[in-house]
Amino acid sequence: MKQTENKATLSFSNGSPSIELPIYRGSVGPDVVDIRKLYAQTGLFTYDPGFLSTASCQSGITYIDGDKGELLYRGYPIEQLATQCDFLETCHLLLYGNLPDVVGKAKFVKIVTNHTMVNEQMQFFLRGFRRDAHPMAIMTGLVGALSAFYHDSTDINNPEHREISAIRLIAKMPTLVAMAFKYSAGQPYMYPKNSLSYAGNFLHMMFATPCEDYTVNPVLERALDRIFILHADHEQNASTSTVRLCGSSGTNPFAAIAAGVACLWGPAHGGANEACLNMLEDIQRMGGVGKVGEFISQVKDKSSGIKLMGFGHRVYKNYDPRAKLMQETCREVLSALGLQNDPLFKLAMALEKIALEDDYFVQRKLYPNVDFYSGIVQRAIGIPTSLFTAIFALARTVGWIAQLNEMIGDPEYKIGRPRQLYSGAVQRDVLPIASR
Ligand code: ACO
Repeated sequence: MKQTENKATLSFSNGSPSIELPIYRGSVGPDVVDIRKLYAQTGLFTYDPGFLSTASCQSGITYIDGDKGELLYRGYPIEQLATQCDFLETCHLLLYGNLPDVVGKAKFVKIVTNHTMVNEQMQFFLRGFRRDAHPMAIMTGLVGALSAFYHDSTDINNPEHREISAIRLIAKMPTLVAMAFKYSAGQPYMYPKNSLSYAGNFLHMMFATPCEDYTVNPVLERALDRIFILHADHEQNASTSTVRLCGSSGTNPFAAIAAGVACLWGPAHGGANEACLNMLEDIQRMGGVGKVGEFISQVKDKSSGIKLMGFGHRVYKNYDPRAKLMQETCREVLSALGLQNDPLFKLAMALEKIALEDDYFVQRKLYPNVDFYSGIVQRAIGIPTSLFTAIFALARTVGWIAQLNEMIGDPEYKIGRPRQLYSGAVQRDVLPIASR
């Protein structure tokens, strides 16, 4: 971050003296006005609910140009990473800042692979949940519980603890998600099989049973790996900001990531993939493609409270580049499974076409986001709808950790503590209960 020659001047209509605020430049993207001394100098706070114009930190991990529809991890376009790298290479990139060479990759894969099992006691902890509990409820609990099972890596100020907790989280998330699934299905847990790839092992833990041989389908393995890459990080989104805020108090990495999982669950964020597939199924039940026009009219009627799930994004005001890659994967998976005529895919294409031509969506720059097609792919793989957001959490874990570790290493980092515009009652006295 470099200070520019340019400065912002804040002046007041009431005659208070104006102040100058420094402006900093990053490597690309909008400059920022440094308001840190604003309160000390003027007694004023800034007001920005939803962080519409506020950079909450300095980061070198992910860059999004929402107008161009561009997404870079450590400078590399998502399209190149999705087509030329696998998920563990992407994890290495996000965590350490560089793509590994052959030796570095083998070393990283080995260390992650060595940590795929979870403490045996965790399955007894899992049994405390109802079988019909939502997987995200279970994941919030399980990830938080890792701090109880791996107490030897909970000191966020110790670089070795941070490193080993990062590896543990990346390695164990697939095991935990698969355990949550097996528990709800009433099937025995499958232990990780370390001869398989990261995505292949996840498919094995999800769909193998002790009584039959299971062969990983390479098309599904590649599709899942791509889902993981596309969801791995997305700069300062709600769950990542939650992880940073939670971690800023000095809490342990497992607790901070559990907070991220909880935030991701919401339908405006990671829960959108589940909500999107439910929406497609509802329209299908109502009559399918023929009902798209009627549904779009309902979405446009604000009083209906209905949104086109999988559409719109705070940052992208153009096609989400991840949605394009996901649509490609969707075609590949459906054709490999002989599901080219999948009615939900046809419905999604029809919805997308109409929405992209409709003034309501055009004017508001609403385009499909990554969740619009990811649900169809996951459903084709055999993943139940209620597990979609847990898959997202699994993939985003590396981004959360990379961002958390970046924050801890930032000399400017402080506990996060927003201010407020208070609009409640001014001071008043408590009346005796009989007189209230
Ligand atoms: N369907 C219909 N209208 C929409 C949609 C949508 N999906 N998204 C935004 N709009 C409308 C809003 O009603 C608003 O209209 P107005 O200007 O007439 O009031 C306008 O577009 C701007 O939308 P905001 O809600 O102000 O945009 P914001 O940046 O706050 O919200 C969000 C972004 C939450 C993603 C929103 O677009 C949404 O709810 N989309 C559906 C849920 C979804 O797909 N979420 C996934 C996000 S990506 C991810 O987490 C991986």
